[in-house]
Amino acid sequence: MSVIKRESLFQAPAAHRTRLVNPFRVMDVLERARQLETAGVDVVHLEVGEPDFATAPQIVAAGVKALQQGRTAYTPAAGLPALRERIARFYADHHGVSVDPSRILVTPGASGALVLASNLLLNAGDAVLMPDPSYPCNRNYVHLVGGRAVLIPPASPGRPAPTLAQLDRVCDSNVGDSSVKGLWLASPANPTGAVIDAPEMQALSDWASARRVHLLVDEIYQGLDYQDDPGGRRAMGNLPTALGCNPENLVVNSFSKYFGMTGWRVGWLVVPQALAVTANILAQNLFIAAPTPAQHAALRAFDEDVVEVLEQRREAFRQRRDFFCDALRSVGFSLPWQADGAFYCYAGIERFADDSEAFCRMLLEEHGVAVTPGTDFGEHNANSYVRFAFTAAMPRLEQAAERLQRALA
Ligand SMILES: Cc1ncc(COP(=O)(O)O)c(C=O)c1O
Repeated sequence: MSVIKRESLFQAPAAHRTRLVNPFRVMDVLERARQLETAGVDVVHLEVGEPDFATAPQIVAAGVKALQQGRTAYTPAAGLPALRERIARFYADHHGVSVDPSRILVTPGASGALVLASNLLLNAGDAVLMPDPSYPCNRNYVHLVGGRAVLIPPASPGRPAPTLAQLDRVCDSNVGDSSVKGLWLASPANPTGAVIDAPEMQALSDWASARRVHLLVDEIYQGLDYQDDPGGRRAMGNLPTALGCNPENLVVNSFSKYFGMTGWRVGWLVVPQALAVTANILAQNLFIAAPTPAQHAALRAFDEDVVEVLEQRREAFRQRRDFFCDALRSVGFSLPWQADGAFYCYAGIERFADDSEAFCRMLLEEHGVAVTPGTDFGEHNANSYVRFAFTAAMPRLEQAAERLQRALA
């Protein structure tokens, strides 16, 4: 994979801290896949983490209408009041959790929420604990404000979150001069698809509160969960929100994944009441506001007729997950993490290789299957894993499974 060259101009060198930010290896995979496709090679894309479904037509129509009505000026920094109220209603109706709309900031995607949160919460030198593997950008958000991301390897492969004993150990000993300020988790998680169950989330939340550490939970993949619940499947997902554990927790969410709106760039951050005013001031300064037509479109996303479409898509993802996890196991991949949510399988390649980037290169160049190396997501045993995103239709997944079988069995 090509290494991006970053020599600086003498007159305008990039800041030192930018060196801490790694490029996504998945972008190299994508670029090479596109080159191969231009040369006529058929590639099954299982590398990029976004739904392959176009945004639901009702949401698109609401966006078009907003544009036609000239709704193109800035909204307030924290978002359209109606959208903040609609999100608050979602917490009340779906989760039974009361969240005052003043605690909700609409942001340019979950990415904007994470940038806002890191600026809001961290001083230079503060340490933030996060699982290894986890979403690669999180480390970088922390580094860019001068903080330190401390990656915690799984106590055993397959565990969705660090254990309390691990957290205690790291907090007490291992972070040098930094003081631990936060614990950042995601459920369901990228790249593992693992879900932190309600009792474990409560225990983590209680731990954070006892340690006076903030807990931030990225719930961007909520809605895309596949565990059967004794109470039956609920539209918009069966998982509880970390806001129910403690109103002091911070929660990130987005319209990108379950709602299928990646390119519209709308997400949100929920903050404790005491931080709402400061968060608002930061939002004004960091990005003025999330895109206005997209916020109007997002207002339509919670409506029943839209959720019906989204639930059909969730069912399609569940069928793909069932098929593809079985296919990977039968080829010989290990799957220590249960893919209970999101659209990823994080697969162990120890039977085949010990260099995940070389393995991905081989799958792409010789077999036309594009996947993401584990080295994008962490350091611990990263060369033993690859991430498959089942964001391709079933016939393409079947083709991918056949190609993997031919390549590896
Ligand atoms: C865990 C996680 N958080 C945040 C994001 C960023 O999402 P958004 O498109 O809402 O900025 C992603 C995107 O893949 C993700 O996987």
